[in-house]
Amino acid sequence: MSLPPVRLGVNIDHVATIRNARGGALPDPVRAAKLAEQAGADGITAHLREDRRHIGDADIARLVAELDKPLNFEMAATDEMLAIALRHKPHAVCLVPEKREERTTEGGLDVAAHHRSLRPFIEKLAANGSRVSLFIEPDPVQVAVAEALGAAVVELHTGTYVEHVFAKNEAAASAELDRLRAAAREGAERGLEIHAGHGLTYDTVSPVAAIPEVRELNIGHFLIGEAIFTGLGPAVERMAGLIAKAREADAA
Ligand code: PXP
Repeated sequence: MSLPPVRLGVNIDHVATIRNARGGALPDPVRAAKLAEQAGADGITAHLREDRRHIGDADIARLVAELDKPLNFEMAATDEMLAIALRHKPHAVCLVPEKREERTTEGGLDVAAHHRSLRPFIEKLAANGSRVSLFIEPDPVQVAVAEALGAAVVELHTGTYVEHVFAKNEAAASAELDRLRAAAREGAERGLEIHAGHGLTYDTVSPVAAIPEVRELNIGHFLIGEAIFTGLGPAVERMAGLIAKAREADAA
């Protein structure tokens, strides 16, 4: 029997990175989002960073107004971002850690250390109608605290697994996959919906997509880079195809 499908959320932040390298309006991340929708994305993900280095406030307003598929709004747990999320009521909000000096989100949110400060954010966002996700390391303590905080979803950070694959460190990659599998199982047993993402590529997506409890993958940087060579539509189609294949009964 095949596993239930995994949704593909396409993160369009880095279309805005290219736009912002020159200023102006092109390339338009909303156009990319619509193309990704047409190519089979199940949702669009965008991270409004505090320094607005890629996605801007106007992009979020347009994405909310113009998309057909659900928007997953990634944000740091700050009062400024909370006000924006409460105003726009995106389908989903994913709380992520954010440091100004980092090039990308470098790890999961330490929900165990910050549970007191995070709780009001989760409560307010959920009461406002957004499905709240916490981006965490694949760690049983983080999963347990996420459940205790009342989050609906955990997104498991796949960046370490991908780094080990790229470094050709098979033992470490396999150990990290085991951590992802165990955290997914633990989270599902606790009633959490399981998502995963960060750094995923054609070569690394299949084992993560094959984790039975995973329901959504959020993928951005690789797809936007691949779009340079093949176009965004074909890149999204190929990624969606790899994810679907990993869910087939005979995939393992
Ligand atoms: N999921 C989360 C929570 C993220 O912060 C990011 C990066 O913004 C992604 C997924 C997508 O990561 P990547 O761009 O490396 O595919």
